[in-house]
Amino acid sequence: MTVHFIGAGPGAADLITLRGRDLIAACPVCLYAGSLVPEALLAHCPPGARIVNTAPFSLDQILEEITAAHAEGKDVARLHSGDLSVWSAMGEQLRRLRALEIPYDVTPGVPAFAAAAAVLGAELTLPGVAQSLVLTRTSGRASAMPEGETLENFARTGATLAIHLSVHVLEQVLSRLTPEYGADCPVAVVFRASWPDEKVVRATLGTLDPAIGVGERTALILVGPALGAEEFDESRLYAGDYDRRYRPVGHQPRFPE
Ligand SMILES: C[S@@+](CC[C@H](N)C(=O)[O-])C[C@H]1O[C@@H](n2cnc3c(N)ncnc32)[C@H](O)[C@@H]1O
Repeated sequence: MTVHFIGAGPGAADLITLRGRDLIAACPVCLYAGSLVPEALLAHCPPGARIVNTAPFSLDQILEEITAAHAEGKDVARLHSGDLSVWSAMGEQLRRLRALEIPYDVTPGVPAFAAAAAVLGAELTLPGVAQSLVLTRTSGRASAMPEGETLENFARTGATLAIHLSVHVLEQVLSRLTPEYGADCPVAVVFRASWPDEKVVRATLGTLDPAIGVGERTALILVGPALGAEEFDESRLYAGDYDRRYRPVGHQPRFPE
């Protein structure tokens, strides 16, 4: 018996890996983490599967479901939105499973930031503009930010920021970032990337209307010079005169064929 943690992707039911889909189809128990996991994915469950929305559950109750399946020798598909490596609460579940010696594995998923970048048609790491992407959030009721991980500190690096779980405090985000990046810095808010009701708002830190965040939850705020840049270097890797292993160039190539 194994608990298969599966990244369910950002919303569109076809943005899941083939491995994830096949695991769902093979498991007689499916536990899914609420409304951010598209219901259409549950159609892959085998007939008669036990399908449980764990959104109202405590960690103990989730573990009760898993240990019951374990006792019956039934594999579990455990679905969380996006990828499991960020804000999935997988870590605490894995720790409990290790303590109980219940086997598990992890199948990655398409994270929300990647879906949002795809909607924008944006590369978030443009040569000479930004070479780092910071996945971050602001403090929430349930989770305070560790000291040092402030928006201001990240912004000072000039990196592209993908700010999660924060659209409801958009006004605060804008006022904290504007002094660092400047009012002209591009910002995009992508609501429900890849869902049928997806929406995109592009502006600058100085012009974005903070009211668009009111009453919203599932949105990503992307900020940084890379978002609007047309002036950036072409990648050296693909430059005609760049000598590389797969395309030796010049009289004395570094990697002769
Ligand atoms: C609990 S976190 C889950 C992150 C997820 N594990 C991932 O890999 O992206 C939920 C936050 O992710 C962002 N998010 C998740 N799905 C999204 C989507 N389809 N479009 C925009 N933002 C999304 C929002 O900021 C939301 O508040």
